[in-house]
Amino acid sequence: MTRRFDVLVVGSGIAGLSFALKVARQGRSVAILTKKNKADSNTNWAQGGIAVVTAQTDAFAKHVKDTLVAGDGLCTEKVVREIVREGPARVQELVDLGLTFSRDKSGAYDLGREGGHSERRILHVKDMTGKAIEDALLQAIANEPLVALFEHFFAIDVITRRRPGGRRRVGPDRVEGLYALDVRDGRVVTFAAPVVMLASGGAGQVYLYSTNPDIATGDGIAMAYRAGVEVRNLEFIQFHPTTLYSPDNARFLISEAVRGEGAILRNLAGEAFMPAYHPQADLAPRDIVARAIDSEMKKSGAPHVWLDITHRTPAFLRNRFPQIDRICRQHGLDLAKDLIPVVPAAHYTCGGVATTLAAETSLPGLYACGEVACTGLHGANRLASNSLLEAVVMAHRGAASVQRYLEGLPAKRPSPLPEWVDLGGHDSDERVVVSHNWNELRHTMWDYVGIMRTTKRLERARSRIATLAREIHDYYWNFSVDPQLLELRNLTQVAELIVTCALQRRESRGLHAIADHPRRRMVARATRVRAD
Ligand code: SIN
Repeated sequence: MTRRFDVLVVGSGIAGLSFALKVARQGRSVAILTKKNKADSNTNWAQGGIAVVTAQTDAFAKHVKDTLVAGDGLCTEKVVREIVREGPARVQELVDLGLTFSRDKSGAYDLGREGGHSERRILHVKDMTGKAIEDALLQAIANEPLVALFEHFFAIDVITRRRPGGRRRVGPDRVEGLYALDVRDGRVVTFAAPVVMLASGGAGQVYLYSTNPDIATGDGIAMAYRAGVEVRNLEFIQFHPTTLYSPDNARFLISEAVRGEGAILRNLAGEAFMPAYHPQADLAPRDIVARAIDSEMKKSGAPHVWLDITHRTPAFLRNRFPQIDRICRQHGLDLAKDLIPVVPAAHYTCGGVATTLAAETSLPGLYACGEVACTGLHGANRLASNSLLEAVVMAHRGAASVQRYLEGLPAKRPSPLPEWVDLGGHDSDERVVVSHNWNELRHTMWDYVGIMRTTKRLERARSRIATLAREIHDYYWNFSVDPQLLELRNLTQVAELIVTCALQRRESRGLHAIADHPRRRMVARATRVRAD
């Protein structure tokens, strides 16, 4: 059976929901596909907030400069300027939907500060900004009759077609829909539409330790790559400096806003070490803080460093960081009295599917926005809290661009799409190996493609990942598809792409620190990969 819409959206975070809302309000029918529940998104986990110029003392030029400095020479300046400038208008739309950002006693926005920002400019809803945004958008979507939300539908691949007699060029001519696994009944459904928006988030789960939810398996990046679309700058994986250390694999984010309110990093000897690494000390850009922690841990052999916010009152901490306070208490830690053990963990995919400032990819009809995309805003290292900003601005621009694209399409009856072909469809008790491979992949990435890299380690990772990719293709792909197998395929694909980009970059820049190429090259260039 084929289901037909004007527009398909993969992912139900801030980017996908904002885009869907706007496109529906243009009178288009929209299907949002999400592989789990509608609120299972990276957005929902975002603590910090949304960086936007609102204060009298602030200026667009300052926000632009901070973004460019953090991005270490690799941001596209025009993109930075436009996204920063459009921020206030897009944030006002969130406020119009009913979102209430935290305010101080005078009634003004309670602006937060994070690493790399020269001003307080982070709008937040205490330490649960993402959840508040997600709730507001889901509420608005629920009232939109043209939007159908498909929970537990896992997008597998986009469907592309070459126009008969179309001019010869690399890759297919346009997108026509996608195949999605209905997770609850195991069948693959064909969705037809002239537009597909990838808004499926990043790939933090490719690493053993990550702040991301389980869903962050790089699905959109892998799908776009398989469709022949260019991906860019994937070596720039941002490691968040401060996640709560625990002996298991779980990592809970301790927002950078805690350092924005004065928290200090200390090594196990109790020394505040950041001033020795950077003039902005604990509020230096994230790549620098994460590397400093890594270096302190390696020097001392300690499994973590400490975060110290004990100079703040219990009342302040409970009010400003209620969620962090609660989770720390569950671990027997009192923010106002105890030092908090913290370690870095994979947090944000700065590269991704290459797009224009209109969210267009190189494949007509295929769009991308949010963490899955690479617009040029983040360069070699994303400035804290710029991602929610990018998501709302690019969703708006994407909606305008899709409107133009749909208006330009010839009005003719769409031809039927090929049905999904299941290669094997059998089940196997070897399936347990799929989860072993997940673990192997995530260990490999953590050990060899982490905060500090060498060419030798990258090559070792490349050879192990290639073996996994071969096994998936030659062997597991004959199983009936299920979410775990699809995620493993996508993660392995993205891991290959991260390593390919990392090997292309023969310099240390931003988040990519490689011991055998310690210097930054004079000219900053993006790394690009495209399937043959
Ligand atoms: C944080 O709260 O530290 C994370 C915010 C972000 O990654 O932008």
